[in-house]
Amino acid sequence: MDFICTKCGRRVPTATRAASCECGGLWKLDYEPPKYDPDKIERDTWGIFRYRAFMALTGEEWRSVTMGEGMTPVIPLDDDVLLKMDYYMPTLSFKDRGAAALIAHCKAAGVDSVVQDSSGNAGNSVAAYCGRAGIRCEIFVPEGTSPKKITMIRSHGATVNIVPGNREACANACRKKVRDTGIFYASHVYNPFFYEGTKTYIYEIFEQLHRIPAYLFIPTGNGTLFLGAVKALEHLLASGVIDKMPHIVAVQSEHCDPLYAAAQSGEKAPAKADSRPTLAEGIAIAEPMRGEEILSYIYRYGMEVQTAPEAEILPARAALAERGIFCEHTTAATYAAYLAYCKKHGKIRDALLPMCGAGLKSEH
Ligand SMILES: Cc1ncc(COP(=O)(O)O)c(C=O)c1O
Ligand SMILES: [Zn+2]
Repeated sequence: MDFICTKCGRRVPTATRAASCECGGLWKLDYEPPKYDPDKIERDTWGIFRYRAFMALTGEEWRSVTMGEGMTPVIPLDDDVLLKMDYYMPTLSFKDRGAAALIAHCKAAGVDSVVQDSSGNAGNSVAAYCGRAGIRCEIFVPEGTSPKKITMIRSHGATVNIVPGNREACANACRKKVRDTGIFYASHVYNPFFYEGTKTYIYEIFEQLHRIPAYLFIPTGNGTLFLGAVKALEHLLASGVIDKMPHIVAVQSEHCDPLYAAAQSGEKAPAKADSRPTLAEGIAIAEPMRGEEILSYIYRYGMEVQTAPEAEILPARAALAERGIFCEHTTAATYAAYLAYCKKHGKIRDALLPMCGAGLKSEH
């Protein structure tokens, strides 16, 4: 299987150690899944790899790497809203979908040491799966990252490098190490295998509900869930099992909204957004590397972007907790954005929101 450069079209085998193309372009996979067919779901596999017929995978290494991630329930919040409980995962966030697929690929490719940068959850997840796969791991996190996330990352045997400054400074420090040392960059943003894992968010919803709800709200920082979800939805569309795209609402932070700002004026590239501190640390990405790709989908399918009002995040979190759902601040921001969307457009029916991160992780 090959990677193709999204900028210059160069092709390299996926076993490459190069994080991106020499021209600076990011990789995409040269992979078309076969037509969707429910009979191709491997129902004896209790986890995301039950959808492996529709995932680009190298070898059988996933069998020793998987921890049964995925298979999260969909529950009603009220008559209009469904929640997909993606914090019911081995490391308590949806990132396990992507990390399981990415680290299975690393193991199959013989990688023995990786670095990665993250606002916390993706690092947590990559560290856990590396621990399981016996791969050395160093995670770069920005200062101010929830101490609980840092403790969890260390507990998996990974080294944590706390970088002064914001999320971009952290990414830059990590990428410098990749350039200087040639170490494998197990990035949830750069590496296309991560998105093969996040595609399963949609395959699961479709298997559970036998349909796709009318509105999907998706928190979008770097867009790993957004892009995986859109790829899987395009697959279902192309296979003729759904007849239209659902209405997708990408959720950004009011304090860091480069995609929202770009979408307001139809810009192709993410806008220069001011990045003020926000409780929604997981989506505070001022320079999303795949921003143009995300925006192109937003325009192609008439999607919307909604910001989460900062002042509404804590009340939204409390409202969910009162109903038994204790989620992290970034996840409460998705609910706050849904409420703000309803305020603007009136009540909408049949919306699905992912509960991406568990509450104890951001309790500080
Ligand atoms: C809880 C939570 N929700 C949503 C996101 C957004 O994911 P992405 O940056 O891939 O769009 C993150 C990312 O870390 C997260 O931790
Ligand atoms: Zn290139």
